[in-house]
Amino acid sequence: MLIAGNWKMFKGPAETLEFFDRFEAPDGVEVVICPPFVSLEAAVGEEWTIYAQNVHWASEGAFTGEISAGMLVELGVQGAIVGHSERRHWFGETDETVNLRCHAALEAGLSVIACVGETETEREAGATDAVLRLQVAAIPQHENLVIAYEPVWAIGTGKTATPEIAEEAHALIKSLHPTRVLYGGSVKPDNAAELLAQRNVDGALVGGASLDPESFAAICRAAVA
Ligand code: PGA
Repeated sequence: MLIAGNWKMFKGPAETLEFFDRFEAPDGVEVVICPPFVSLEAAVGEEWTIYAQNVHWASEGAFTGEISAGMLVELGVQGAIVGHSERRHWFGETDETVNLRCHAALEAGLSVIACVGETETEREAGATDAVLRLQVAAIPQHENLVIAYEPVWAIGTGKTATPEIAEEAHALIKSLHPTRVLYGGSVKPDNAAELLAQRNVDGALVGGASLDPESFAAICRAAVA
C-alpha cells in the first residue's frame, strides 16, 4: 500500500519540521509526503520519501514560477504529483501538459503520481467512463508511475466516493493502464480502512487529513490493518 499526503499550499519549512517531529508510521506501508516547493529542502532532510506537487516539462528556460525535474532531483526529491485536479481547474493543466510533465519527470528519474478524475457534472451526465478513458490515455506507462483516481466532487468536500464507486473506477483505470491506483478525495481515518479494502485500491492520496501527523498516521495504520 502506498499512502501519499498532498499538503497543497500548507506548511512552510518550520511547520514542516514540526510535522515530522510528531509523525510516525507503521512498517509495511510506503509513505510519501508532498510539501510545497519551499518546504522540500527541509523535508528531504527527514527520513521520509518526499515528492513535489508539480514539475515542469522543460529542463530549464523562461518559465516563470515553474520548477524542473532536474532541480527536484538535485534537492533529493524522489517524485512528483502531476495533473492534480486543482492544477487542471485553476492553472490550465490539460491532458497534453500532464503528458509532458510525466515524461520529463520519469526521464529525470523521478517517480510520478498522475491524477485523474471526473467532475460532478461529468458524473451526473454519465460521462465518467469517457472522461477517465481520455485522461488515462494521456498518461505514460512506466514502472515508476502510479495513478491516483480523485473524483473532483470528493476533493476537500467531505463527500467521499463510496467504496463501490471507487472500486468501479479503479477497475476501469487498471483495465486501461496496468499500474497501481490510489484513491483520493476526503480520505479520513474513519473511512480509510473501507476504501483501502477494495480489491483494486492500492493506496490513497490524502489532502486535508495529511496535514495533521496523528490523522495521517491513523490512515497509514489503516493501510496495514
Ligand atoms: P482531500 O484532498 O483529501 O482534502 O479531499 C485530496 C487531494 O486533493 O489529493
